[in-house]
Amino acid sequence: MAIAYLNGAWTAPRDAKISVFDRGFMFGDGVYEVMPVYGGKILTKTAHLERLARSLKEIRLETAHSQEDWSILLEQAVEKAGESNALIYLQVTRGVAPERSHVYLSAEPTVLITVTPFAPKTEQDIVCLKVCTKEDFRWHRADIKVTSLIANGMIKNEALSEGFDDAIMLRAGLVTEATSSNVFIVVGDEIRTPPKSELLLHGITRQEVIRVAQGLDLKVKECDFQVDDLESANEVWLSATGLEVQPVGQINGNQVGDGHPGPVWREMFQAFQKEKQQSIECID
Ligand code: PDD
Repeated sequence: MAIAYLNGAWTAPRDAKISVFDRGFMFGDGVYEVMPVYGGKILTKTAHLERLARSLKEIRLETAHSQEDWSILLEQAVEKAGESNALIYLQVTRGVAPERSHVYLSAEPTVLITVTPFAPKTEQDIVCLKVCTKEDFRWHRADIKVTSLIANGMIKNEALSEGFDDAIMLRAGLVTEATSSNVFIVVGDEIRTPPKSELLLHGITRQEVIRVAQGLDLKVKECDFQVDDLESANEVWLSATGLEVQPVGQINGNQVGDGHPGPVWREMFQAFQKEKQQSIECID
């Protein structure tokens, strides 16, 4: 059952209401996290909470919640939802201001948590994505997980309207990330992904993919690359919570590899599933 928590009250998500003066609504002044729940367990919770703390610090938004408080709240939410597989959405905004003002007028942060059922894909369900490349015209702090996703939405929907599934974004000719995921390429025996910077989100799944790859003795290099490297790579993948690691079969109409999920992706996918299962079993 989907459930929402809003500033201390538990409701059905559709019944959760916020003020029009909430700065999250008026200014997109808030940050968020999306976390995976598998087998009733929140995976990579600490990493998500650390990134949340960093986002809050970067936008100078203080809340009374310690990491422990957040953790307890999330566990409660999962328990109330009673779903085995779900996605948790946690949003913190600068709260309800007395009036519309660019100045930060004192307000209690708004805290919203939703838990919604989610069906993870099996290897057989996975199909290769068709993506295009587009100019990354977002602001220069894409490393902060802010709720203002207008540019991501514009770029994604432009790609959809042109018949693609998504867009990989380029800034000054270099790949940053896709509209809601990080990008990996496989070149020979090496997996490459753009290095962490202020121009892309430091994805938790990205970090997991790197960790799993290293455990498989695959070479991983965090380095910049361009559209030509995408188009000539043996494999291209996108990574994100919920998506996990998804193969790309076409870039700008050009086939990647043989257009089907590649062997390195398959190895990664299977190892990822195994790691997930182990995490579910060892979190108490
Ligand atoms: N988005 N880059 C962007 C722009 C993203 O929005 C996301 C995730 C990622 C991957 O991050 P992670 O591996 O931590 O999920 C990269 C979430 C899922 C969303 O907005 O729904």
